[in-house]
Amino acid sequence: MIKIAVLVSGNGSNLQALIDANLSGEIVGVISNKADAYALKRAADANIQTKVIEHKAYPTRELFDAALHQQLTEWEVDLVVLAGFMRILSEKFVRNWHGKMINIHPSLLPLYKGMHTHQRVLNTGDVYHGCTVHYVTPELDAGPALLQGVIPVGHHQTPESLAHRVHSIEHKIYPQAVEWICNGTLKHLENGQIVYKGIPLNKPIQFCDL
Ligand code: GRF
Repeated sequence: MIKIAVLVSGNGSNLQALIDANLSGEIVGVISNKADAYALKRAADANIQTKVIEHKAYPTRELFDAALHQQLTEWEVDLVVLAGFMRILSEKFVRNWHGKMINIHPSLLPLYKGMHTHQRVLNTGDVYHGCTVHYVTPELDAGPALLQGVIPVGHHQTPESLAHRVHSIEHKIYPQAVEWICNGTLKHLENGQIVYKGIPLNKPIQFCDL
């Protein structure tokens, strides 16, 4: 069974969706860089061990990442799932977990890397918006995408209403993507190629919530 660690910084609604999904992998631990993250309570309520590794306690990013790496290694983790983890990871850490670490980002990547995605979608007047599950590479929000959730923007939207709708679709696609990895439906090859049911995936699968 694949051992999963979920890295969080805040509310943890994606963590909750993963817990509720009864994955065929096991969430062996949750790490937060913030001691007051609500996600820690969600994990504890589900009897999942937690660890707080506060970035402020480490003088450099590299030392913080080394502490993360040590904990993940101790738990013998196979898959690292970033779920609202608000730290940029060092290149060394990302390379150590190459092909074994995924993230969910609230935009249809490669559109809108970085922050404030909902406001930027509204500013541009896009018709569609959504979220992307991707493997993590050293360049921010740029690793190979495997699954996207798409919603129509519609009229009279605010950044808050869009955030709410994107969150709902995140809770559907993130557990699905993790399950595909757990049961071997989706694989990341050494060369970075993603294979879905044995077929090379050159663009993400899209789930449309229309
Ligand atoms: C989500 O919007 C996700 O796309 C982004 O961080 C947010 C985490 O929300 N990476 P939650 O903590 O899972 O509720």
